[in-house]
Amino acid sequence: VGCSQSESQEEKVTLIAHRGAKNLAPEHTLTAYNKAVELGTDFIEIDLRMTKDGQLISIHDETVDRTTNGEGEVSQFTLAELEQLDAGSWFSNEYQGEKIPTLEEIFDTFGKNTNYFIETRPMNGELVMEDELLRLIEEKGLKDYVIIQSFSRDSLKKIHQQNSEIPLVQLLYVNLTKEVREDEVKEYATGVGPYAPTIDKEFVERMHEVGLEVYVWFDNKDEKEFMPKVLSYGVDAVFTDFLDNTVEVMSQD
Ligand code: G3P
Ligand code: CA
Repeated sequence: VGCSQSESQEEKVTLIAHRGAKNLAPEHTLTAYNKAVELGTDFIEIDLRMTKDGQLISIHDETVDRTTNGEGEVSQFTLAELEQLDAGSWFSNEYQGEKIPTLEEIFDTFGKNTNYFIETRPMNGELVMEDELLRLIEEKGLKDYVIIQSFSRDSLKKIHQQNSEIPLVQLLYVNLTKEVREDEVKEYATGVGPYAPTIDKEFVERMHEVGLEVYVWFDNKDEKEFMPKVLSYGVDAVFTDFLDNTVEVMSQD
């Protein structure tokens, strides 16, 4: 992947800023992403959703309720309607007027200055976002700067059929982690993304033996407990909600 990573860690663990620097600014805003890039993240994480008029935007929840001053399902808004919403005040008045960014705005803002860890998902059971995502990556010349992650095998398989060069990460739910069929995942993905408390050193070694990288995610509340453990297992990458702290801890190693 394009950007150079920090050389200061003993095993060079890749850092993914989960929803941007989400402890410092409202998640999934350009400001949160900008802070993450300034702090030296390797990747910014983007949770994709699609508007009623087919535009890809970055927002985690199915509804706008938690992270904006609006109400309702994201898929029922046009982009023009979503642009009227304030995506910053819920976090702090200082961020009043922040917008939900489109994927294109994020790509245009950061270009090749960072890498993008992009999560796809079916919407209402349909694989609607993959074609537009691949088109935008191609148009912006960013294929070497992107990893695509999903809990949906079908989404990743659809992407792999159209473009076998982009690295894909199969996210794993808590109760699937021990059941991963690595031979099946290997057919389309380059890595797996398990939930931190569900893995042990043996799992990481097993994935590495078959050539799958391990990208670990946390629940906000358990990151501080499990980060040192998973790093000791030799994982390849971690999502972090506390990027400033994680960068500091790793730079001390
Ligand atoms: O994408 C990995 C991790 O972010 C999964 O959890 O719910 O924050 O997307 P979520
Ligand atoms: Ca995510």
